This record gives sequence, structure tokens and C-alpha cells, in this order.
Amino acid sequence: MLLADCGGPYDLTPEHTISCYEAQPTSEAELAIMIFLKSQPWRYLGTRLLHVGVGNCSFAVEFAASLKQYVGITISLPEIVLFEQKLANFENAKVFLLNKYDPRFYGLLDGQFDIIVDTLLKSATCCEKHFEGMMEFFTSRLTIGGMLITTETGVQWGWKGNTKRAYTPGAQLDPSVGKLRVLTRNGLRSIGERLGLSLTAVRIDGSLIGGADDHLLILTKS
Ligand SMILES: C[S@@+](CC[C@H](N)C(=O)[O-])C[C@H]1O[C@@H](n2cnc3c(N)ncnc32)[C@H](O)[C@@H]1O
Repeated sequence: MLLADCGGPYDLTPEHTISCYEAQPTSEAELAIMIFLKSQPWRYLGTRLLHVGVGNCSFAVEFAASLKQYVGITISLPEIVLFEQKLANFENAKVFLLNKYDPRFYGLLDGQFDIIVDTLLKSATCCEKHFEGMMEFFTSRLTIGGMLITTETGVQWGWKGNTKRAYTPGAQLDPSVGKLRVLTRNGLRSIGERLGLSLTAVRIDGSLIGGADDHLLILTKS
């Protein structure tokens, strides 16, 4: 298959770490996750949370004070600069420049997480092999009962090769490859089953996030 193995991992270079979402509004998918968590504070109060793709830092600003620790990752250097400004007063919040599909980085992240948030699990992958490796890594770092939270819109979207924003080294840039980065809910369920994670879906009303209805897809480790 075209996307089976990129032959890497490949190093992050300046062309991969350029501007991304530091100046963009929070995505509807991330808003949906924030609304869900805010409605059920017992799920996150005092927990350790890994946020994949810090973006404009609104998620970190909203939750850091209530968490035991917030750990963010991104491949965008401007997002790191913004994070260091906005979260300067939070000793329990840190950010790493880290390609989530590159196993050489995983040693930077220590300990277990109660919650992992990633709105675009497969959408930006270089290949199936490194996407599956990332899912195995996330699973290994979830506590028992811990949740990996993503959204339906996220698993339906595949990056089509716009290199004007931060992007994963080794990712093919041909727009036709985008569809191979679409995971789908069934794809998520099936990789979850292989890894011992069970899937639940929670509908989020579009009026709450300023867009169409979405579903949170939550993989729980038992
Ligand atoms: C579309 S933005 C979303 C930002 C924010 N999470 C939101 O939903 O508003 C994608 C985010 O994922 C990060 N990202 C993209 N590819 C990545 C990769 N291979 N490893 C880690 N982060 C990545 C980007 O740097 C950016 O923070």
C-alpha cells in the first residue's frame, strides 16, 4: 500500500516546524472536547493530560490550573514561542517540540497520562507504520481507565499536502494521498480493539461549537 512505510523516521527541519495554528482560532473539534471536559470536571481535575497539537494554547490556558500536569506537544516552533509566553506562570505546564509519529522522540515524555487529547490522530501521518506505532505508544502511556479523546470530524480528515504549515517529515505531498490518512470511526474502533481500548461516542451539538454536530470518540483503556 502507498502509505505503508515512509522509510523513516526523518528529522524535523525548519521546513517542517514553520508557522501553524498559533494565530488561528481553536478548531471546532477541540472546542467540542473542551465543552465535554468542562461539563464533567471530575474527569480531568487533578489529572495528568497530554495534549497533542497545542495550537493557539487556548486549551492549555483553560485547563492547566485544574490539572496535576499539562504536557503539550507540537511540531510548530511559533506555537512553542506562544506557549512559553502564555503559560509562563504555570509550573505544571510544559511543551515539547516533538513529532508524534517519530518513536525517537517518545523518551522525552515521561510517566503515564490519564487523558490524551489529539483531534487529528492519523490525519497528518507519514505512513501506516508510524501511525500504528504512535497508537501503541499512546496506549502504553495511558493509565488504566485513562482516555484517548478525538473527534469524528478529525478521523474523517486527511491532510492533503499544504506545506505552508507545519507538517510531518516523510509525509507524501501528493494531494491524492490525503484520503489514505482518513482513519474513520470504524478504523479507530478496530485499532482500539487490537490495543485493548474500547470506543464510546458522545454527540456534541453543533450550536455549542459554532458549526456542524460532531461526535467525540473516546478510547478507554481497561
Ligand atoms: C490543525 S492544528 C490544531 C491545533 C489545535 N489542536 C486545535 O485543534 O485548534 C494541528 C496541530 O498539530 C500539530 N502537529 C501537526 N503535525 C504534528 C506531528 N507530526 N507531531 C506533533 N504535532 C503535530 C501542529 O503543530 C498543530 O499544533
